[in-house]
Amino acid sequence: MSNEEHNPLAGHEVDGITELDNQLPRWWVWLFWLCNIFAVVYLLYYHVFNMGPLQIGEYEAEMAAAQQAQAALAASRGPAEAINFDEPSADPAILAKGKSIYGINCLACHAMDGQGLVGPNLTDDFWIHGGSFQEISHTIIEGVPEKGMISWKLVLKEDEIHAVASYVWSLHGTDVSASVPPAKPPEPEAKEYKRPS
Ligand code: HEC
Repeated sequence: MSNEEHNPLAGHEVDGITELDNQLPRWWVWLFWLCNIFAVVYLLYYHVFNMGPLQIGEYEAEMAAAQQAQAALAASRGPAEAINFDEPSADPAILAKGKSIYGINCLACHAMDGQGLVGPNLTDDFWIHGGSFQEISHTIIEGVPEKGMISWKLVLKEDEIHAVASYVWSLHGTDVSASVPPAKPPEPEAKEYKRPS
């Protein structure tokens, strides 16, 4: 039907106002029906048969996945609380752990009582790399590879280093006069470190 043949008046009139019956463009009609079909499919899919998750469901699934990923990351990093290398531990359990780590890893060079062998004496007031707890920890963590003391962060975990550093700290001033082999005198390059009492 061409435009000229089509009577634009719908045929009703109220108070002198007539209604125009414009023919809708074909693309518009297609779009209209496609929208309707889409709406019905959408309604059935999401709200009648519950085949897909709604936005809140998607959100919850993503949050759960993120929480799982976070928990896995935290688990891979070990205990959450950071080790504090500012202070040595005086906890007997930690010192015992430090002593056993010392026996396995350090004894060969620093001797049974810490009196020194290949490595320096750890019981006296003389330190090459500083005698504060932070400095001792730092020497253990980073090592002195060129002098034969490896970087222990490659071998021991943080809490193990803290334990063995606390044990070394506790060796200070112990009597090694009768130790075998005999206690090593201070290294020539060592400086005296007096602990604050
Ligand atoms: C293979 C031998 C060797 C082993 C094993 C070793 N050390 Fe040492 N360590 C040394 C040497 C050598 C030095 C001196 C480095 C230097 O001359 O600068 C040293 C230095 C140190 C110092 C610093 C001493 C100072 O005067 O400043 C500390 C603390 C120390 N070692 C602790 C440890 C601990 C704790 C372990 C075990 C976890 C350990 N060492 C294992 C050889 C060793």
